Amino acid sequence: MAIERTLSIIKPDATKRNLTGKINAKFEEAGLRIVAQKRIHLTPAQAGQFYAEHKERGFYAELCDFMASEPVVVQVLQGEGAILKNREVMGATNPANAADGTIRKEFALSVGENSVHGSDSPASAEREIGFFFSGLELVG
Ligand code: CMP
Repeated sequence: MAIERTLSIIKPDATKRNLTGKINAKFEEAGLRIVAQKRIHLTPAQAGQFYAEHKERGFYAELCDFMASEPVVVQVLQGEGAILKNREVMGATNPANAADGTIRKEFALSVGENSVHGSDSPASAEREIGFFFSGLELVG
C-alpha cells in the first residue's frame, strides 16, 4: 500500500479536556507518524471555509461555532494507507456507532463534539493539508 498523508484535527472538546497526548498516542500506536502539528484558534469564518462542503446542512452553523469555541490541534499524519487507517483509528462519526478502542468510542461526547476530524479521500487530504500547512512545514 502507498505511503499517504492525511489531515487530522483534534477538536475543541478534546483540547479542552487535555486529551491531545492520549489521542496522539492512538495515532502513533497505529503506525501513523505525525509529520506536522500546530495548535491554533480558528475564527468561525475560517471554520466555515474549511467545512464549506457542509454549508447546506442543518448543523453547519453549530459546527462552525463549535470549531471556533476553543483551540484545535491541526496535524498531518503519514503512513501506509494513512487516509483509511486514520478513519479506522478515529471510529464512526457518531460515537454511539464507534467500535471499541477507537478515539471516538473512548473520548467523543456526541456526533458534534466528536473529538477528531480526518480527511475522507485523497482529494480531501490534499485540499485540507493545503488549507493549514505549507510544504515547508511537513517534515516526514
Ligand atoms: P467531521 O468528520 O469533522 O466532519 C463534519 C462534521 O460535522 C462531523 O465530523 C461532525 O462533527 C459534524 N456533524 C455531523 N453530523 C452532525 C449533526 N447531526 N449535528 C452536529 N454536527 C454534526
